[in-house]
Amino acid sequence: MQECTSVDDHTMDMLIALHAAPAVPALLALAVRKPLAPEHNLVTAWIAHHFSPAWASEARAALANRPLTLFIATRGNPAELLGFCAYDATARGFVGPIGVRDTARRSGIGAALLLACLHDMRAMGYGYAIAGAVGAPEFFRQVAGAMEIPNSTPGIYAGMLRAP
Ligand SMILES: CC(C)(COP(=O)(O)OP(=O)(O)OC[C@H]1O[C@@H](n2cnc3c(N)ncnc32)[C@H](O)[C@@H]1OP(=O)(O)O)[C@@H](O)C(=O)NCCC(=O)NCCS
Repeated sequence: MQECTSVDDHTMDMLIALHAAPAVPALLALAVRKPLAPEHNLVTAWIAHHFSPAWASEARAALANRPLTLFIATRGNPAELLGFCAYDATARGFVGPIGVRDTARRSGIGAALLLACLHDMRAMGYGYAIAGAVGAPEFFRQVAGAMEIPNSTPGIYAGMLRAP
């Protein structure tokens, strides 16, 4: 798994210009939306299971914001959770973490989630977003024109507690 907050020599922060973000693509039968309160525990448990407790912790921070700053992608009825993307979780103006279930990758879901967050950030008044300690730079480059920020490692994550 590639981590947004596992900082090592290979990760860096990236800058994204929100005014240049492409429109959110409409994907067949995919709902990209903010979760309702009764879904919050299910969403964070799913993130801990498919990704990491640290990402679930970041998701809880995003879900505590008002308005909340996390999108999910679901399909079907009853809905199946396929991915999530948060912003303003670890730091204001930061987008991520983002994750798509491994069986659903490379079908545009990650792009739809990232762009939904970026447009929400623009509506909230931000001009730029920062993707922190990026583990999938090509994805951010392709989808949102993200650019590497020099000397951004370890950035805000310096000295962070780690699971033993
Ligand atoms: C990164 C991630 C969210 C991308 O989700 P996805 O739904 O597969 O992404 P998309 O299908 O929308 O991809 C859009 C474009 O991004 C690029 N891209 C996506 N994943 C990529 C990868 N692993 N390597 C290089 N380019 C990638 C491609 O250009 C892709 O378009 P294409 O499929 O037409 O070539 C997903 O791979 C994931 O959850 N990875 C594990 C968690 C993770 O690393 N999160 C990011 C931490 S910073």
